[in-house]
Amino acid sequence: MAEPAQHISNPDPAADRPVHGGIKPTELRALGLRPEDVLDFSASVSPIGQPSGVWEAMRNVDLSAYPDPQCLELREALSRSLTHPELRPHGVPLDRILVGNGSTEIIHLLARAYLSNPLDGAANSVFLLTPTYGEYQGACRLAGAAVSCCDVQEGSAFRWDMEDAAQRIRQEQPSLVFVCNPNNPTGVFLQREEVEALADASARVGGLLVVDEAYLSFVDEPWDSVSLVDRGNVVLLRSMTKDYALTGLRLGYSLASEEITRRLASFQPDWSVNGLAQAAGVAALADTAYLPRARQAVEQAKGYLTEQLGKQGFTVYPSAANFLPVRVGDATSWRDNLARKGIFVRDCTSFGLPEYIRIGIRSLADCQRLVEAVESLSHSPAQGPLAD
Ligand SMILES: Cc1ncc(COP(=O)(O)O)c(C=O)c1O
Repeated sequence: MAEPAQHISNPDPAADRPVHGGIKPTELRALGLRPEDVLDFSASVSPIGQPSGVWEAMRNVDLSAYPDPQCLELREALSRSLTHPELRPHGVPLDRILVGNGSTEIIHLLARAYLSNPLDGAANSVFLLTPTYGEYQGACRLAGAAVSCCDVQEGSAFRWDMEDAAQRIRQEQPSLVFVCNPNNPTGVFLQREEVEALADASARVGGLLVVDEAYLSFVDEPWDSVSLVDRGNVVLLRSMTKDYALTGLRLGYSLASEEITRRLASFQPDWSVNGLAQAAGVAALADTAYLPRARQAVEQAKGYLTEQLGKQGFTVYPSAANFLPVRVGDATSWRDNLARKGIFVRDCTSFGLPEYIRIGIRSLADCQRLVEAVESLSHSPAQGPLAD
């Protein structure tokens, strides 16, 4: 069902911040838990720790020097890592790559660059394919934009009607369209033609399509999306935070035309990507065996969780990413009861899915602890019944 665009004339940033996974020290203290005693399944990052060489590279960083504001070495390493023998024998041109303090910084740069100062009278509105990552809406509202959502629910296996979405883009003429592929929290992975339909519709109305590929590295045999950048109105977002478990450092990048990249860079504060993160990123990319290993670990743990939670009567949705959406009934109560046991999962209520939790994939041993905790709660009177 189409939701009308909402215009937020006086956004209150404090009241309207997006909800995220991750563990907050205030909650741990309230629960009487120590950080070393808990397992965090609420954020979805690589389950195999950091690539070899990352710690050594960080030890060699001169902390008394400013980092390179242009992240030259890291962009060179990214360019090389995106080389394709036929499609991109020379990698991606450096002036198409922008590094950010996490891909989240680039989401905010996009909102500020393309929504706060509409050029040539362009409509100051944004179109989101939802349910999805809350930061798009948060950033766009801060920029004062009207937000329009194309929402899907469980009945269609969380797959959007792309013809309807494209038609609405042509009608509503948003400056920006955000789609997350694979999508957080549903795990739905769109094929090239589906993303191209959104890019075509956006191009027709002079808008940009932002494809957030934060979880792409965990997809088994994905299609090559980098060539979409040649269209001139597509921005790809990638997260090295997630790829290489660099969550505490913050690292992400965008791939876009030279013009878009220049515009985004002009809104970015100098030195926003610190020297440790840049060095870690270069070292991570040098470990070319890492991502295949991470994917294998994710596949194994996903298979295990799907089977074990399925046996306990839960509906586990197939997901192309390194997390699983699980239908539990009362998600908030499951999340809170698991947290008391030191196991943190993501309650999907803030995504508009109050019957779902999202489980970020961790090691097999950690997943076994999760399954045991869920099983013991299933037999506890404190926990409500499963959803039908
Ligand atoms: C879809 C999506 N994009 C981006 C991010 C943030 O990634 P980063 O750590 O690179 O800012 C997240 C984090 O949960 C996410 O789910």
